[in-house]
Amino acid sequence: MENIKIKVNGNEVEVSPGKTVLQVLKDLGIHVPVLCHYEPLMPQGSCRLCVVEDRGVLKTACTTPVEPNMDIKTDTPNVINSRKLVLQLLFSERNHYCMYCEVTGECELQDLGYEFGLDHFEFPTYERRFPVDNTHDFIMMDHNRCVLCRRCVRVCSEVAGHFVLGEMERGIDTMIIADMDVPLGNSSCVSCGLCAQVCPTGAIIDKRSSYLGREVQSEIIYSNCDMCPVGCGME
Ligand code: FES
Repeated sequence: MENIKIKVNGNEVEVSPGKTVLQVLKDLGIHVPVLCHYEPLMPQGSCRLCVVEDRGVLKTACTTPVEPNMDIKTDTPNVINSRKLVLQLLFSERNHYCMYCEVTGECELQDLGYEFGLDHFEFPTYERRFPVDNTHDFIMMDHNRCVLCRRCVRVCSEVAGHFVLGEMERGIDTMIIADMDVPLGNSSCVSCGLCAQVCPTGAIIDKRSSYLGREVQSEIIYSNCDMCPVGCGME
């Protein structure tokens, strides 16, 4: 098939048909933030972080195939504001207080927060508590940290072929479940760990890796307070 011509940020480029806008932008070295997208999983276009503008219309780069005469813009105020709004909404839902999270420093949501300069919660945070499933020998699921990207569900079926993880309910009640909603430890999970590997936040973690692989402070600092163990050194 013949290449097609599109414009990207004002420059004309020739691209192969069949590619998504995200693939083309990646080939061109243009950074596009993503959260639900994870190669080689099938794109699902749910997080809306990868939006770009095409002739005035916002489109998700990960699910939109290139077509002739597209005029893609990746850095208009509309694009940036839309991505930022999505991120602010994600942070306000469930529990994303990074400093208390197991994977702080290794979290894609946190990285995006830094990238977009989020230094406060724009919207009231959603205080509802979701369950923490600690029934599995190796994997912990903390639904409070979940951003519903469904990478875990897709990797469990598309890559591992296990079809253990799924989802139930809709909207803000949506939950990732194992089998027909049984505790993960009682499910047909074979402990492959792929779900923990692709999870962008601290929602699914390998229990054994908690705090490992990171630099651990080993210097002994004596605290000046009787109660507090932090050891800030202040008098
Ligand atoms: Fe494209 Fe989530 S990365 S919609």
